[in-house]
Amino acid sequence: MSRKIRFAIVGTGVIAPLHAKSIINNPLTELVAVCDILVDKAQKFADEYGVEHVYKDYHEMFKRDDIDVVSVCTPSGIHGEVAIAAAEAGLHVLCEKPLEITKDKLTAMIDACRNHGVKLGGVFQRRTLPAAIKTREAIQSGKFGKMVLGDAYLKYYRSPEYYKSAGWRGTWELDGGGALMNQGIHGIDLIQWMMGEVHSVVARCGTLVRDIEVEDTAVALLKYKNGAYGVIQGTTSVYPGQDTRFELHGENGSIIFDDNGFKTWKFLNSEETAPSVEAEKSAASDPQNLSLGGHYILVDDMAKAILEDREPMVPGEDARVAVDLLLAIYESSRTGKEVVLK
Ligand SMILES: NC(=O)c1ccc[n+]([C@@H]2O[C@H](COP(=O)([O-])OP(=O)(O)OC[C@H]3O[C@@H](n4cnc5c(N)ncnc54)[C@H](O)[C@@H]3O)[C@@H](O)[C@H]2O)c1
Repeated sequence: MSRKIRFAIVGTGVIAPLHAKSIINNPLTELVAVCDILVDKAQKFADEYGVEHVYKDYHEMFKRDDIDVVSVCTPSGIHGEVAIAAAEAGLHVLCEKPLEITKDKLTAMIDACRNHGVKLGGVFQRRTLPAAIKTREAIQSGKFGKMVLGDAYLKYYRSPEYYKSAGWRGTWELDGGGALMNQGIHGIDLIQWMMGEVHSVVARCGTLVRDIEVEDTAVALLKYKNGAYGVIQGTTSVYPGQDTRFELHGENGSIIFDDNGFKTWKFLNSEETAPSVEAEKSAASDPQNLSLGGHYILVDDMAKAILEDREPMVPGEDARVAVDLLLAIYESSRTGKEVVLK
């Protein structure tokens, strides 16, 4: 196919510019249309990125015959309905995290995309971090020996103003959760992507500081399917926000890294030192301080997945694993019981 892969964006808020810039700067892709229920906001966005077509209703936009992929950038609890409408219109879907916020909606959107023969890719841009990729490779190569611990420390600062900046933030209905579902999900995805799937969790979640429905702080004990244990600590209520940190240990080695790169890379009977990786921008205290790189890679990957007719880098089934895990964490906190994942 020699023509460009044509994108449309639904939801022109905080995250949409990363999609727009990634699409516009990629020689394989172009941005054809944008949509927001606040149509003036969509128009302003379109003017900024030179987009010709603006819509208030995504159903109308999906009737166009010159769109290949839809970037879903709406509040989290609306991802599924947008993705299903896109799939029914025969359009591929690149969906922001979390893929959706309930099991039923996750299943419905994945099924819709499969049944209509369109691709569904999730946005977990931290999977493109060199430190995460190198750590995963080290685990898969077996150099840790038996894995013992896999921990994720996800301590953010989000001000009261952040939660007031859009009505859906901090609500069960549209955010689907708080410190874990919105911010921590990146780290939750990453720790299970590196360590392997989780068998069971015991957890406690609470709203300690912010005036929101959902949790602003959570701790969870994990048992991985490979037999290792781990902890997840997530919060949006500590000042200052900390670099997210991952600590992975096995009988024969340890890797610790944060947003600035590796802190520890040490293996038994080995002089090997940590590979050099670039520091990441950190959204620990500022939700808008995100690198473009990860989104660029995922937009590029979606275009190539369509051109090569293959699965995208983070297929829908893969993107739901982190949500299933954190829903189990919520359930354990609610019931006080250990929850075994399916
Ligand atoms: N990958 C990341 O690091 C990252 C960072 C921030 C946000 N996100 C995700 O992106 C999504 C959006 O977050 P945000 O911070 O940009 O939110 P936002 O509130 O700034 O923007 C959402 C936009 O969607 C619009 N919208 C709502 N309902 C709509 C509908 N039915 N049709 C069309 N437009 C609609 C709103 O008017 C708003 O302009 C969330 O799911 C969030 O979790 C991901």
